[in-house]
Amino acid sequence: MQKSLCTVTHRLKSTLKKCFTSLDLTKDEIKGKSSQGEKYKSINELWQNQVGISRTNWYEKGKNYWEAQESTLDGVLGGFSEIHQADISASNKFIKSLKSKNYIIGSRALDCGSGIGRITKNLLLNHFAHVDLVDQSEKFIEDAKHYINDNKVENYFVKGLQDFSPQKELYDCIWIQWILAYIIDEDLVAALKRIKAGLVPNGVLCIKENVLDEGFIYHNEDFSVTRSDKLFKIIIKKAGLKIIHEETQKDFPSEYFKVKMYGCIPKV
Ligand SMILES: C[S@@+](CC[C@H](N)C(=O)[O-])C[C@H]1O[C@@H](n2cnc3c(N)ncnc32)[C@H](O)[C@@H]1O
Repeated sequence: MQKSLCTVTHRLKSTLKKCFTSLDLTKDEIKGKSSQGEKYKSINELWQNQVGISRTNWYEKGKNYWEAQESTLDGVLGGFSEIHQADISASNKFIKSLKSKNYIIGSRALDCGSGIGRITKNLLLNHFAHVDLVDQSEKFIEDAKHYINDNKVENYFVKGLQDFSPQKELYDCIWIQWILAYIIDEDLVAALKRIKAGLVPNGVLCIKENVLDEGFIYHNEDFSVTRSDKLFKIIIKKAGLKIIHEETQKDFPSEYFKVKMYGCIPKV
């Protein structure tokens, strides 16, 4: 009995190990903790403990968390609606910088993890004639239609980013903000690979996320992971993307995480 239990445990551990392909990380980059104080020796240990063999369950938990949030600025900004203006203004400058470098010359954008369409309404529609939205939450997508109320939005997709593939070579700008924390490393590399195929030549995939100087933090409350700048750069490189422009967000409250914007193009 004892022996067979050991065998089962051993088999389960090796199955879990096989579930997550490790990224090439140095020691300082891989150590992390949770918001409740648990320590992790590596991000793979986090994925093994928190996701185990059921990725569907992990993504369901994240989805349920978001379905329970209000369709308001506070709802999609975790109670920090006061950062909305500074966020949009910095993103606006970021897009202008890319345009001044002769990127993003066309007129179609995709808003990934759009929530109620805060970024589409206040940023993307000022730069692009057509915008599409994708979010896992049917509720947010329905409410986005009323909040944005603009027929320049052509498509509203209800889909998890881990399963989403855009139409090939369609978008001049693909904006991904405050959503990558919900996606497992391996799925994220695969998703970015698929999503970058949606860019036209001279198109840019823009990522805007909270970052740490090192390590990672798992947030038990909403099933998300704040990654380090280094970890994002490893993931971006693994997805076959090259960073052509990066900036750090200014004018956020001091208690807020550092936020970075990465403008990426496919590596040739
Ligand atoms: C913090 S809100 C940000 C919304 C929007 N990007 C903004 O800045 O206003 C996170 C959004 O990501 C969406 N989201 C979380 N995990 C997702 C996933 N795996 N696939 C697609 N959307 C996801 C949530 O439904 C929610 O709308």
